[in-house]
Amino acid sequence: MKKLGVLTSGGDCPGVNAVIRGAVLGGEVAHGYEFLGFRDGWRGVLEQDAVPLPRRSVRGISRLGGTILGTSRTNPLKNGGIDAVRESLQRNGLDGLIAIGGEGTLAAAKELCDQGVNVIGVPKTIDNDLGATDYTFGFDSAVQTATEAIDRLRTTGESHHRCMIAEVMGRGAGWIALHSGMATGAHAILIPEHPVSLDQVSAWVTSARDRGRAPLVVVAEAFALLGEESPYAPRGLDTFGRPRLGGIGRLLEQQLQQVTGIETRATVLGHIQRGGEPTAYDRVLATRLGMAQWRRRRTATGGAWCLCVERTLSP
Ligand code: F6P
Repeated sequence: MKKLGVLTSGGDCPGVNAVIRGAVLGGEVAHGYEFLGFRDGWRGVLEQDAVPLPRRSVRGISRLGGTILGTSRTNPLKNGGIDAVRESLQRNGLDGLIAIGGEGTLAAAKELCDQGVNVIGVPKTIDNDLGATDYTFGFDSAVQTATEAIDRLRTTGESHHRCMIAEVMGRGAGWIALHSGMATGAHAILIPEHPVSLDQVSAWVTSARDRGRAPLVVVAEAFALLGEESPYAPRGLDTFGRPRLGGIGRLLEQQLQQVTGIETRATVLGHIQRGGEPTAYDRVLATRLGMAQWRRRRTATGGAWCLCVERTLSP
């Protein structure tokens, strides 16, 4: 019997369960594969904590948020390393792994591939910051959630004639801020790719107020004012050595209120953006990615399977 392990690692995101379902359906039904689900990402692989994933276990899960397998930010290259991963595959009789993850997870998967371990990587993140993909699943859902929340901030801001700031996630990329900011008609959209000065932001805010509007600012968590350092509120590093971001919203709240004299409130949308059910778009994209493993595997030649990054097309 051919057998594959599946794991979800790094930040969860809407659509992960649809990938698991797509992979299991495509693998079991069309190709006779058996699946094992590792709990909590690479931790489960290293500690051999796994559950069988028969077809019946993935029934109806594509609409569910989060991940049925659990996740963690365990870095396999740090915690026991490549030999432990190899041993886990061998002990469980696995031909390879399907690793569903973002930047950190896929960097580790790539390293494992380079060392001869069979891994297929599935790009996953709300941040939409992975190369060779046009869109990552989870992004559309996060933008939808952020847009709904920011719409609410706008109505309370208008009632009180306040400047409202929404800090959104995205790690080093401004995609969530850009899309949710455009969708909500924000007066300033601040993204890390395009630093601007406090004077410029203040001018946009003041101009909106002078036109009778309640200024709305959407800021990405990694945004830094021109000439300043990012991130503003370092909260240490994660296990992949990347800074934990957050804090720019509060900082702007103080600074903008001081410079413009407009009463200002900041809201950090945080993990709300990662939770909940995937949008229809993300369910379809994630299912396609799960199913795509089988097309890619057939084209893989010799040695370890290549890291698979599905180039996604417009809907
Ligand atoms: O990569 C997804 C993401 O949600 C980023 O947007 C954010 O910076 C980070 O993860 C938060 O990580 P954690 O859930 O570990 O706090």
